[in-house]
Amino acid sequence: MEMKKIACGVLFAAASMTAVMAAEEAGAPAPGPSSSAAAALPALGSLVGASLVKRKKKEEEILFQENGSLLLEELIASSGGIYNPIRTFSSHQILQATNHFDWNYVISEDRFVWYKGLIENRRVLIKKFQDCSLFDADNFYRDIAVSSLMSSHKNALKLLGCCLEFPHPVLVCEYPENGALNCVRRAREGATRPFPWKVRLKIAKEIAEAVTYLHTQFPRTIIHRDLKLANIFLDENWTAKLSSFSLSIPIPEGETGVNDMACRTSSYIEPDYLNTGFVTENVDIYSLGIIMLILLTGKSEYTSEVAVYLPVLPVYVGKLLDRGLLTKVIDPSMLESVSDDGIPEHLRLQMEAFIELAFRCVKFKQGEKVLHMIDVARELKKIEKTYLTPQTVLVRLETDPSLSSEELL
Ligand SMILES: *[C@@H]1O[C@H](CO)[C@@H](O)[C@H](O)[C@H]1NC(C)=O
Ligand SMILES: *[C@@H]1O[C@H](CO)[C@@H](O)[C@H](O)[C@H]1NC(C)=O
Repeated sequence: MEMKKIACGVLFAAASMTAVMAAEEAGAPAPGPSSSAAAALPALGSLVGASLVKRKKKEEEILFQENGSLLLEELIASSGGIYNPIRTFSSHQILQATNHFDWNYVISEDRFVWYKGLIENRRVLIKKFQDCSLFDADNFYRDIAVSSLMSSHKNALKLLGCCLEFPHPVLVCEYPENGALNCVRRAREGATRPFPWKVRLKIAKEIAEAVTYLHTQFPRTIIHRDLKLANIFLDENWTAKLSSFSLSIPIPEGETGVNDMACRTSSYIEPDYLNTGFVTENVDIYSLGIIMLILLTGKSEYTSEVAVYLPVLPVYVGKLLDRGLLTKVIDPSMLESVSDDGIPEHLRLQMEAFIELAFRCVKFKQGEKVLHMIDVARELKKIEKTYLTPQTVLVRLETDPSLSSEELL
C-alpha cells in the first residue's frame, strides 16, 4: 500500500487512517471512516512498529505518522471518543495552494499566519503557526480537534482538514470572504459600504452563541481563552465565525475552573485569571465584554488614531455616558448615517442595553446574578429583537416565548 495515497486520500481521520493501514497490512478490507476510536487505538501500536519500517522513511511521512497519533489522542480526549473524521492534505497540496507560503497570499497575521489558497478549485484559508513559543504540542492538536468538534456550529470557522506533514500542523478552513475582524478596518479603507451597527450587534450575538456551544455542548466545559478580534472571521454575509482553539482548555467535571499558566495573548485577558492563573468561564465572558465595547466604539489595538489600552475601555465609555455623550462613545463611522437629530431612539436604547451588558461581562457593573455565556447570548438576542419603544421593550423582554435556550444552539 502506498502512503501517499492515504495522505492525499482525503477521507479519514488520523484514527481511521491508522486503522486503514493496519487493516490493509493484514490483508483485510479497510474500515470506513466510521470506525470508532476504540477500534483505531490498537492500530497505533503497529503504526510505530513493523508497518512503518517497511516503508520508505520520507521525513514527511514520519511527521504525518507521529503527529497523527498525537492528534488522535487529543481528539479522543476532547470529544470523549465521539468525533468526526478529519480530512488530511499533503504538504504538496498546501505548498501549491499557498505558493510555498508566499507573503502575498497572507490575509491576516497574529501568532498564526493565515493564507488564502485554492485547493481543488475551492477557495480555502490555510493556517500556519508562526510564533510557536507559547505552545506545547497539545495546543496544536487541540486546535484541530476542537475546531473539528465546533465545525457543525454555524458561527465557527469550518475546519476542512489539516496537513500533518510539516513540523507543525497546518489547518485548512473554509474561506471567509470578509476576512478577519481585526483586518476589517484596514480592508475597508476606501470601501463604500459602512460597517453598520446592526452587523456589529449581530457579530457579538453570534460569537456569544458559538462560545455558549463550546461551554455547554461537550462532555466538559471548554473555555476558549483567546477571544479577540484576530480570531473572529466574517463570511460573505457578514456572519461571524469563531476560530483558533489552540489555547482552549477543558474544565474538569465538578470544578469551576482549572489552573493553567496565564497566556497573555491579547491586552484584554480577565484580570483575575492574569493574577491567579485560574481559568473559569469568566475568562471568555470578560473578553467578549471587551470585544463588544470595541465593536461599539471602534477603538481597538488596531486603531491607529488613538492608542487605547483596552482594559480601560469600560471606564472611558462609562465617563462619557455619565455626561450623556453617547455620540462621542460610538464609532464615528456609524455616525455618518445618522441625521442631525442624533441617534434614533430605538438605536440609542439598543446601544445602551448593549453597553450595560458589556459592563456586566467585564464586571464594571455587577449584575444581580452570576453571568454565564448562555445568558449573554440570550441578552444579545433580546437586544437585537426588541427595541421599538421603551414600553414594548419591557413587555417583550418578559414575555417573548421565542427566546428559549434551545433556539440559541
Ligand atoms: C510532529 O512530529 C515530529 C516528529 O516526531 C516532531 O518533531 C514535531 O515536534 C511534531 N509536531 C508537533 C507539533 O508536535
Ligand atoms: C449568503 O447568503 C446567500 C443568500 O441568503 C446564500 O445564498 C449564501 O449561501 C450565503 N453565503 C454563505 C457563505 O453562507
